[in-house]
Amino acid sequence: MPESALKSFPKEFVWGAATASYQIEGAAFEEGKAESIWDRFSHTPGRIRNGDTGDTACDHYHRFRDDVALMGRLGLGAYRFSVSWPRVMRDDGTVNEAGLDFYDKLVDELLATGIDPHATLYHWDLPQSLEDAGGWPARATAHSFVDYAMAVAGRLGDRVRHFSTLNEPFVVADHGYRIGSHAPGRAEPKAALAAAHHLMVAHGLGVLAIRSVAPRAQVGVVLNFESKTPATTHLLDLEATMVAHDHANRWFLDPIMGHGYPSEGSRAWDWDTKGVAADDLEIIATPIDYLGVNYYTRAVVRSPLLPERSEPDVERTGMGWEVYPDGLTHILQFVASRTGELPLFITENGAAYPLDESDPAKDPERRDYLARHVRAAHEALQRGIPLRGYFAWSLLDNFEWAHGYAHRFGIVHVDFATQERSIRDSGHFWSEMARTGQLP
Ligand code: FCB
Repeated sequence: MPESALKSFPKEFVWGAATASYQIEGAAFEEGKAESIWDRFSHTPGRIRNGDTGDTACDHYHRFRDDVALMGRLGLGAYRFSVSWPRVMRDDGTVNEAGLDFYDKLVDELLATGIDPHATLYHWDLPQSLEDAGGWPARATAHSFVDYAMAVAGRLGDRVRHFSTLNEPFVVADHGYRIGSHAPGRAEPKAALAAAHHLMVAHGLGVLAIRSVAPRAQVGVVLNFESKTPATTHLLDLEATMVAHDHANRWFLDPIMGHGYPSEGSRAWDWDTKGVAADDLEIIATPIDYLGVNYYTRAVVRSPLLPERSEPDVERTGMGWEVYPDGLTHILQFVASRTGELPLFITENGAAYPLDESDPAKDPERRDYLARHVRAAHEALQRGIPLRGYFAWSLLDNFEWAHGYAHRFGIVHVDFATQERSIRDSGHFWSEMARTGQLP
């Protein structure tokens, strides 16, 4: 192998950037869009930092052509976006054609610019009407998801080659229903477990539904992973680490790959098998065409049974998340131990850092974070992991859920007063990766 090959990514490796509907679109109540749980949650006093909402966000709904042009200037090969369920489906269950038209135009604009669209169907903005009827803890929500998935894939499936059913079902169930820090804000552990299971059923049924109307599409799902490291070699720390790993990294992956739910994670979830229908595990294990991996950080795990210990000083992002690039290599290897030859994409990776007020396009830390993770991804490729692409989170500074606009993840800076965009140093770096594929 020539030495240059060792330093570069394969020619066909996909470089992209990612966003999500509620975080960037705005136009929260336009052209027949119904209310989502995030509209309701963000308008509930005390839920979001500074009282921020996604009402306007990056105003992408009105500026999508400029944003696609920007992606073109960056030289991105692909763009991962999500479709807003309540924009596409009315509360009475019929399709809102005007909402679907928006995504239709977005996809055409992307293709005309030479950018491959990767669509995610559920990135957390559930129609509020479905939450009022029980939300994800109710099985019926999985069936409503099928109707929605058919509407979107039926319309876009002639041009969109990659559909992901869900983004991070772990966070939906855990933050939305167990802790309540995300919409719909319910802190009900039993409901969270039912939500997790019904999300999985929605995924499996969704794969079948998408394939039935878009037979040429590749269908997958996006899961979040966190490297788990025991604080010490004490047996209790090791045990706590395995429970945390099963809970966060295996709860969704294992059943999707046909291995059922991991036994240890059930302790963390307070498992109760009521509500699991006989063929659910088979539906959940419907074969997929690729898996999306979101990776940001690791957690150092300490057993609660041992005396409290102080956290060592480590390098952290503005979110307080440890910068741990090796964890990306480890996670990809762990995932591949389950998925084998299945193509993998890094569907999210990136970092928030405080804004440099004197020059908001200057972001040496974010550039460095991405460069080190790119090397970690390359290391995974060298170890034979079938990694096909890498999406930076995020294309734009945006509404970071419960943190509102306080944390910025963009490789492009957004001035929320003027909606002006400026490409950051990290954006130029990403652009170079997309153009050359040469290891930094
Ligand atoms: C992920 C979410 C994404 C973004 C990043 C920072 O969990 O999928 O929307 O908020 O974290």
